[in-house]
Amino acid sequence: MNEILKIVDLTVKLNGKLILEDINLSIRRKEIVAIVGPNGGGKTTLIRTALGLIKPVKGYIEILGTTPENAVKTGKIGYLPQKADIPRNFPFSALDIVMLGLINKKISKKEKIELARKYIQYVGMKGFEDYPYGKLSGGQQQRISIARVLVSDPEIIFLDEPSTGVDVVAQESFYDFLQKIKKEKGITTVMVSHDIGVVGKFVDKVAGLNRHLHYYGHPKDFFQKHILEKLYGADVELVIHSPECVACEHFHTEFKGKR
Ligand SMILES: Nc1ncnc2c1ncn2[C@@H]1O[C@H](COP(=O)(O)OP(=O)(O)OP(=O)(O)O)[C@@H](O)[C@H]1O
Ligand SMILES: [Mg+2]
Repeated sequence: MNEILKIVDLTVKLNGKLILEDINLSIRRKEIVAIVGPNGGGKTTLIRTALGLIKPVKGYIEILGTTPENAVKTGKIGYLPQKADIPRNFPFSALDIVMLGLINKKISKKEKIELARKYIQYVGMKGFEDYPYGKLSGGQQQRISIARVLVSDPEIIFLDEPSTGVDVVAQESFYDFLQKIKKEKGITTVMVSHDIGVVGKFVDKVAGLNRHLHYYGHPKDFFQKHILEKLYGADVELVIHSPECVACEHFHTEFKGKR
């Protein structure tokens, strides 16, 4: 079976409040899926439920052919949580951070260092091994964090807003990088993003989430007024702001004459 993640009739409540309602979706191996939607729309909650950190009140998630709890134990799931602010004097090197990804691997320290170095090179950060993580730029920290996720050799990775604070050019090379790991390592990527214009150009599927899953499919059909309004309400014009947004060209064209 080609399916790596299946979400069926999923409803999640936190502190009695309905956060996700009747979500159904299916992700195939090697797909790159972007979860988009407004702040508080439930994106992080959906990822945390897929990792078995939150129990649904209804429905279920199957990942890697088993329950989230069992799947996590296999070590085949990578997770980059939503960014925490790292102090500049954070006392760890880039290499230390990547080695955290190997904490549960039963291999020698020497092997861990070799693997970590290999992945630092893979994400284009060779030479930064001993550099303090806190002093790296946002984009460099992102690369090192991705290396930390990849070093454990996962089959599926969840990245919660990996490109926040990274400029558009760096973002584009980041998406190229996701394509590369898909091709070379067969990794499935589920990522949260707020940059819907950029994301639309690079991903296989978009999941538009605001408590309900309002859209799930190819990015080309995502940029429709009724879908964007369900997700972002009346602020939809603010969301479609980027002049270089190729994927939402259709949207710009449709609304040009109506303003
Ligand atoms: N532990 C919790 N207890 C109660 N409510 C929570 C908890 N965690 C999150 N929530 C609420 O659940 C809703 C969804 O939060 P979530 O973090 O999943 O949104 P998000 O889509 O990731 O938002 P953002 O884009 O801001 O990261 C929000 O209203 C939030 O306040
Ligand atoms: Mg979030």
